Amino acid sequence: MGTKRVAVITGANGGLGFAIACRLLDTIPSSVPLTIVITARHLRKVVETIGRLRAYAKGRDLLTFDYVLLDLTSVASISEVSNQLLSRYTHIDYLFCNAGGGDFTGIDWPAAFVEVLSNLKDAVTHPHFKVERIGRVSRDSLGWVFQMNVFANYFFMKQISTLLSGGGRVILISSIESRIAHDFDPEDIQLLHSDQPYVDSKKSLELLHAAIAKRWADELGVLIYITHPGICQTSIFAEYLNFLTTFGMLCLFYIARWIGSPWHVISAYKGALAPVWAAVDAVPEADPVDGVTYASASDRLGRCYVKRTEDVTDEDRKNGAILLQELDKLALNSLERIKLETA
Ligand SMILES: NC(=O)c1ccc[n+]([C@@H]2O[C@H](COP(=O)([O-])OP(=O)(O)OC[C@H]3O[C@@H](n4cnc5c(N)ncnc54)[C@H](OP(=O)(O)O)[C@@H]3O)[C@@H](O)[C@H]2O)c1
Repeated sequence: MGTKRVAVITGANGGLGFAIACRLLDTIPSSVPLTIVITARHLRKVVETIGRLRAYAKGRDLLTFDYVLLDLTSVASISEVSNQLLSRYTHIDYLFCNAGGGDFTGIDWPAAFVEVLSNLKDAVTHPHFKVERIGRVSRDSLGWVFQMNVFANYFFMKQISTLLSGGGRVILISSIESRIAHDFDPEDIQLLHSDQPYVDSKKSLELLHAAIAKRWADELGVLIYITHPGICQTSIFAEYLNFLTTFGMLCLFYIARWIGSPWHVISAYKGALAPVWAAVDAVPEADPVDGVTYASASDRLGRCYVKRTEDVTDEDRKNGAILLQELDKLALNSLERIKLETA
């Protein structure tokens, strides 16, 4: 029997998060005791998710589930959840910072037609036609998308860093769409003026990774991998698609894969390959945390593999340091506010 392992998966109730849980169950031998901590926003989703995972893992004995209710757009929720984890566990082996999303408002259809007709592969890899709301502020008075996709992950990691230290791994989930991000703007770190805060927040996550991966590895023994799932069908954009447009989108994904896009893995389970591989199978000496992104990719026949890219620039590291300074300030302010509110 191996040593007991604990995995925390944020947003495990659907899409990529659920697929990560399934893939983890398929990757970690059943002789190893495993606890999967589900985070979701609502108890109903927790119950449903644990039920589905139990069915998936049918026959596996050394498996337990736990849950915490987490809302990434509330620092109070992150602080509360961190305290719960600190009181229940002595070590966390894998933290999948999966939950996230954007504040989309729809599709610019004329732009979509033009983009698809002029370059199908690019159009369905990093589209410019998904319309995002500009300037949404969270209840914590932070940029909403920035808080959910960037600050929340950092704040959470920081709050539970003692549980991760000495070998824990953090898996950050970026996106291939970060390739069309705007240049980092130190005057708009919270992305309140960006017309594509989702895309830009994923780039910011990569900058954050560039700033902390080496330091956390050296000082805390925490390995932080930046990964992305390629492009897979989940509910991230589902509310803007109907049956027909979903079918059309899937057809375009398959065509893109056939004409050579490595990123159209399409199924969430395949998308979970790189995140789970980084957590369980990556060998630090051969697969460094710093300067490399590990992504789920596919060949034309849908056979999946982990694709590495090494495109972190000096500029990224400089911007990452500026971002990190701001995140540390926000983390301090948040803790002070929480202390005042609970005093
Ligand atoms: N699908 C893709 O092709 C793709 C590509 C690149 C990157 N990603 C990334 O993959 C991750 C998972 O996305 P997905 O595609 O699986 O989308 P999804 O199906 O919409 O799942 C998003 C998950 O995040 C949770 N979530 C959303 N807002 C939250 C909040 N404020 N606090 C806590 N949890 C919250 C959702 O919970 P609820 O069910 O309660 O809403 C859900 O569990 C995201 O970080 C996304 O950016 C996806």
